[in-house]
Amino acid sequence: MLVGSMAIKEKTLHIGGISVKELAKKFQTPLYVYDVKYIKNQINLYQTYFKSSKFETAVAYASKAFLSKDLITLLNDKGMYLDVVSGGELYMAKTYNFDMSNVLFHGNNKSKEELSFALEQQVGLIVVDNLDELKVLNTLSKSNQTPVKTLLRVNPGIEAHTHEYIVTAKHTSKFGVSIYDDLKLQQLIDIYAANELLSLEGFHSHIGSQIFDISSYIKSIKVMKKFLDKMSNKFNISSPILNIGGGFGIYYTNEDDILDIPKTTTTIIKEVENTLDIKKLMIEPGRSIVGNAGMTLYKAGYTKKTFGGKEYVFVDGGMSDNIRPALYNAKYSADIANNMTGKKAKEYTIAGKLCESGDELIKHIKLPQVKDDDLIVVYTTGAYTYSMASNYNLALKPAVVFVEDETAKLSIRRQTYKDLLQYEV
Ligand SMILES: Cc1ncc(COP(=O)(O)O)c(C=O)c1O
Repeated sequence: MLVGSMAIKEKTLHIGGISVKELAKKFQTPLYVYDVKYIKNQINLYQTYFKSSKFETAVAYASKAFLSKDLITLLNDKGMYLDVVSGGELYMAKTYNFDMSNVLFHGNNKSKEELSFALEQQVGLIVVDNLDELKVLNTLSKSNQTPVKTLLRVNPGIEAHTHEYIVTAKHTSKFGVSIYDDLKLQQLIDIYAANELLSLEGFHSHIGSQIFDISSYIKSIKVMKKFLDKMSNKFNISSPILNIGGGFGIYYTNEDDILDIPKTTTTIIKEVENTLDIKKLMIEPGRSIVGNAGMTLYKAGYTKKTFGGKEYVFVDGGMSDNIRPALYNAKYSADIANNMTGKKAKEYTIAGKLCESGDELIKHIKLPQVKDDDLIVVYTTGAYTYSMASNYNLALKPAVVFVEDETAKLSIRRQTYKDLLQYEV
């Protein structure tokens, strides 16, 4: 599916007005290409519609989806908040001048060093995951005499994926503290109460990914209402911040819907306005900001029809630049980018060049007959691809290009063989 600035001219895919042939020639393949206008548009939709007259709102981008200097600058310019989950992500945000007061630091096992670094940088909110972490933060805030603002990550016992939510009976997620674990909650609150430098500003819950059904969010808000009432009655915590996480679904294949961001966010806002008494509502979309903005260009290599009849086209990348199909059977769509109008008469499996049989990017996709040096575009690779890329088989991480208004800017350069040796001692 063509989105954003993608268009077909003379049979060839163009992004931001630039032909993919030109991009491949200039930057080589494999190549991650981002449509900057699309990213800006997604940000704009969230910022426009996720608004309330009753409480403050904020949209935080989940940087694990993809992070780079150019994206950090863009997000900062737009006044977005930023979720980080490691010292590395925090370091990058800091280095490229992201406003630290708009940063949320997540993670279930933040080290003492990472927490100290976050305090030094005065990050806006630390999302505390567990009792042990709070004890470390408590000590750090006292020894440094630093005020620390936190949210507490809670597990509402709901998991939502794609079109449905599941109220999990097991409560075994590694993240957060169960909203039903009153003993743990009491222990946490006792620590907060004994240290005036440590403040509990509110709560965080995240129910899953690729969510299209608004009722999943509504369900989570209803469950959180009961929890917030309990926290208010038992511990006198009133008008907290509530962060309901990310998970807004995006289009990968025709099995997916297209999420209506204005409708989804305004429905969430209305539900919260009608049911909760909070100071601020936050959301944390990751893939929905960058996923559909990104695509990967590969050069088609050899083709092979196996004795068993399966027909492969091999590309010059694979699971090292997109682990998601091998990791969790993620589905993608693709085209021959220099032959967008050809008849899709053949069925191929697009496989990478890594030494694993599971290195298949797309199983059984209809494409026109592949010819030497065709360019294959895999869509919707803007999220959880570069950020999950590896040097498996010592494959080089591809370059990242940002395209807008007929200009292509190299955002992250391609690795070189020399880069592979840089950690050797
Ligand atoms: C706490 C939290 N917030 C936000 C996100 C972003 O999710 P998505 O990229 O699906 O929007 C995740 C992803 O797993 C998450 O764990």
